[in-house]
Amino acid sequence: MASFLPCASGDFAEAPAAPVPEVGMAAPDFLLPAADGPIRLSDFRGQPVILVFSPPGWDPAEAAQLALFNDTAARLAPARARLLGVSLDGPWCSLDLENEGGLRFPLLRDFDPAGGVAHRFGVYGSRAVVVIDGDGVVQWKHVFPAGLPARPEVLAAVFADLAPPDPIGPSLTRRQFLITALVASLAAAAWPAPAPAETSAASPQGSAPPRPPQVLDLTLQVNGVDHALKVDSRVTLLDALREYIGLTGTKKGCDQGTCGACTVLADGRRIKSCLTLAAMAEGRRITTIEGLAREGKLHPVQAAFIDHDAFQCGYCTPGQIMAAVALIDEGHAGSDDEIREWMSGNLCRCGAYPNIVAAIRQAAGGKKA
Ligand code: FES
Ligand code: FES
Repeated sequence: MASFLPCASGDFAEAPAAPVPEVGMAAPDFLLPAADGPIRLSDFRGQPVILVFSPPGWDPAEAAQLALFNDTAARLAPARARLLGVSLDGPWCSLDLENEGGLRFPLLRDFDPAGGVAHRFGVYGSRAVVVIDGDGVVQWKHVFPAGLPARPEVLAAVFADLAPPDPIGPSLTRRQFLITALVASLAAAAWPAPAPAETSAASPQGSAPPRPPQVLDLTLQVNGVDHALKVDSRVTLLDALREYIGLTGTKKGCDQGTCGACTVLADGRRIKSCLTLAAMAEGRRITTIEGLAREGKLHPVQAAFIDHDAFQCGYCTPGQIMAAVALIDEGHAGSDDEIREWMSGNLCRCGAYPNIVAAIRQAAGGKKA
């Protein structure tokens, strides 16, 4: 019978090199700290375990996804299956989540050495889901492209491959079916199906069938380059930039138009890309933070932000810079008060506002306000 590969502790620096486990191979055991004490993978022998790895680098958008994992963890409990998060972010981030995020599943701290367990599973730097059965064997593993969020359609495609015509037919053991069902349940909770299309009040039947998502062929011109995309009509420009084109400099903060982290330029005018559908951006010149520098030389606003230390964590900075570039072009940098007023749509949790104003004042120097 297969079993977990042994290990003495969470520190793999001195452990003998082991092959990265693929489906059908024994999962490497590990011992990692968590809020309520250390957790060893092999302690769950006899229970399926779902490991959810996140890439390093905190993205507030992940908070929503973690909330959905909470629900999944609760729904897995009757099946005695466990969901374990593996955090690669700094301890402060992990603590923040545990204290404020109301996590209902253990968040293991893979910090010492940084990402040691993720490396052992071959998933470091990516979002990944690994399902391990009660015998310690990897039954399912999916690694999402590095730096890109998990996309529901990718999971859906994988599940389609996994799902047998007859769930407990001869091609699949009951245990495999259980694992498949658990993974499907995870996905269903983490990425709920789109809300049904609105029912027309005028519909004689009173209940129109849900509209299937409409897939669009779009060409977005971003930073002077045309990108041909096939996207759901509901995809925002922000998601198109980050998830489809891979330009992750534009940040997702609130995803509802209040923080300004997602600010980009459309034909030179600032817009919030989380409030703009990708389809609405076709035919416009989109500029993101990645498109500001020219021939290796920073844009004056970027240089001024560095000169004035106008950031701390830096999460809001791409949006601040894009808004500042537009603000100067709009002629709204005449005074510090004016700068503050016209930058008020861009929030900074770190409170770097005085330095941001100073940077914009410098970058605007010599320009007519
Ligand atoms: Fe906050 Fe768009 S992400 S305004
Ligand atoms: Fe951290 Fe603005 S939110 S620098």
